[in-house]
Amino acid sequence: MLLTNATIATMKRGSPYGLIRDGAVAIKADKILWVGKAQDVPQSFNSMSREDLEGRLITPGLIDCHTHVVHGGNRSDEFEMRLNGASYQEISVAGGGIVSTVKNTREASQEELLESALTRVDALLAEGVCVIEVKSGYGLDVETEIKMLRVARLIETLRPVIIRTSFLGAHAVPKEFKGRSDKYIDEVCIPALLAANSEGLVDAVDGFCEGIAFNKEQISRVFDVAHKLGLPIKLHAEQLSNIGGAQLAARYKALSADHLEYATFKDAEVMGLSKSVAVLLPGAFYTLGETQHPPVKAFRDCGVDIAIATDCNPGSSPLASLLLAMNMGCSLFKLTPEESLAGVTRNAARALGLSNRGKVEVGFKADLAVWDVFHPAELAYRIGFNSLYKRFFGGLEL
Ligand code: NIG
Ligand code: FE
Repeated sequence: MLLTNATIATMKRGSPYGLIRDGAVAIKADKILWVGKAQDVPQSFNSMSREDLEGRLITPGLIDCHTHVVHGGNRSDEFEMRLNGASYQEISVAGGGIVSTVKNTREASQEELLESALTRVDALLAEGVCVIEVKSGYGLDVETEIKMLRVARLIETLRPVIIRTSFLGAHAVPKEFKGRSDKYIDEVCIPALLAANSEGLVDAVDGFCEGIAFNKEQISRVFDVAHKLGLPIKLHAEQLSNIGGAQLAARYKALSADHLEYATFKDAEVMGLSKSVAVLLPGAFYTLGETQHPPVKAFRDCGVDIAIATDCNPGSSPLASLLLAMNMGCSLFKLTPEESLAGVTRNAARALGLSNRGKVEVGFKADLAVWDVFHPAELAYRIGFNSLYKRFFGGLEL
């Protein structure tokens, strides 16, 4: 089919938004066959079915490249505690935080986890999202880590979306291993990774490198196994302090390092060399009331691609709107609207190692979002307003 009379933010590099006015996109099966000015549409397309978009905006289907949408329960009680003066770290050290979601996730059945995840997935899809990354990390035992990843894979069979999974066994030390984090890595985290991978449940391996989680040496042990299995790396790094996570990630040629509020210019430099994407998570910054900003200028100066994601999770970022994350990226981190759109398309695809998504380009998957707006800056500009007109997933209007 041929989509005509459209403004197209192709997100190809070289011009702002790779914008084409009075444009057209031809779709064949699940791929983009042609994109360009409407006046240049080849004669041979005359027999195609046409849809006049009346000037509306086409962007690549959006990509949420960092989420924890599969989890049990919620943590509104901790939200209340923080507003009464407790800090995120204090709550975590006192046995709340990630490990309280672990309890709820262990207790939930696969069906319950799936049902609650789908409510969050549906909110994302309604905003033109076509790819969602989903992490494990609230199981922290072999069985529950695998249960989470199976649920993540099931989402793809029930909704028109691509799911990319990340194994996050090194997310927190569970209660039963308190004070024995090395043992947890050797006896649970690595065996869980091997078991999950042998079931084909793992697309990438993630970790949480932080004082309240795991140190560099422990994360390295997990990453060494990932590399042996041929799996790419991601890392929650420099969120609450700087303990060298971004540099560690760069050494493993990570797809991305995520959060990065406490990253330095030197960190940006090595990430530029390793071509790792900086995934910024303004929802967590906002929810935790952080004041330290990620070094956006250093990322720009060092040629580090910036992505934005929701980090949708019950603790630090109960956010299921990628459009709001884009707006927060601009208002809180001073990204430009163009950077924020690149952050949920082209650069988010890179953060997941996807080479055929995130741009409106010939040969790419026909995952497209059509918006009832006329300039792409409108997407990040509005707050709490969804202007999605329709969505194409793999060439089909779904
Ligand atoms: O990405 N930083 C570590 N992990 C999650 C938070 C998890 C939680 O608090 O439940 C994050 O922010
Ligand atoms: Fe996260």
